[in-house]
Amino acid sequence: MVIRNVELETVCGVTSTLPENTLPEFAFAGKSNVGKSSLINALMNRKALARTSSQPGKTQTINFYNINGDLYYVDLPGYGYAKVPQSEKVKWGRMIENYLHKSQMLKCVFLLVDIRHEPSANDKTMYDWVVYNGFRPVIIATKLDKIKRSQIQKQVKLIRTGLGMEKQDILIPFSAETKQGREDIWNLIDKMAAG
Ligand code: GTP
Ligand code: MG
Repeated sequence: MVIRNVELETVCGVTSTLPENTLPEFAFAGKSNVGKSSLINALMNRKALARTSSQPGKTQTINFYNINGDLYYVDLPGYGYAKVPQSEKVKWGRMIENYLHKSQMLKCVFLLVDIRHEPSANDKTMYDWVVYNGFRPVIIATKLDKIKRSQIQKQVKLIRTGLGMEKQDILIPFSAETKQGREDIWNLIDKMAAG
């Protein structure tokens, strides 16, 4: 994918009305701090357009990035961050669910999990929820640079089993540091945007 132009076009908080976009949308979901915003930056060839932080809970809105006037990357707030008050968690949860449920242009949900860990109960719930809504989630196993090459297969298996992934479901190991996996993700998006 050639990135010519990117623009943060719409930012939605809990009380905002979601945009009625006419371009295909690709959403990035996953627990707080897993690397959603970092992945989006890598896919946009931008260092810091999507704000990232070592502190979980950085992204608190749904952010729509217009890519080349062709499609959107949708950066979602993370779930499962303990320090966020329960009332906020419920609001964000509803906002995310509402988006995934209502968007007419959503082509694919990329569900990010940390390659170092077994998926959490929240990850599993999110996976099931995406499936329930009629999507085949594509799993991105993030922070690939943090494990040894010899551990990759074992971790991939742990994630596949933990989420209860179907055989044909796609899992792509990815690192925002080395950009490993980026080409595969671009190729998928290109294919789905066209189809
Ligand atoms: P929220 O917005 O809080 O939900 O988090 P997020 O999922 O958007 O995570 P973000 O991209 O802000 O990254 C969280 C932290 O992990 C940051 O300190 C990133 O630099 C780091 N990080 C993200 N991806 C990678 C990766 O592939 N490798 C390494 N080593 N660090 C990463
Ligand atoms: Mg973020």
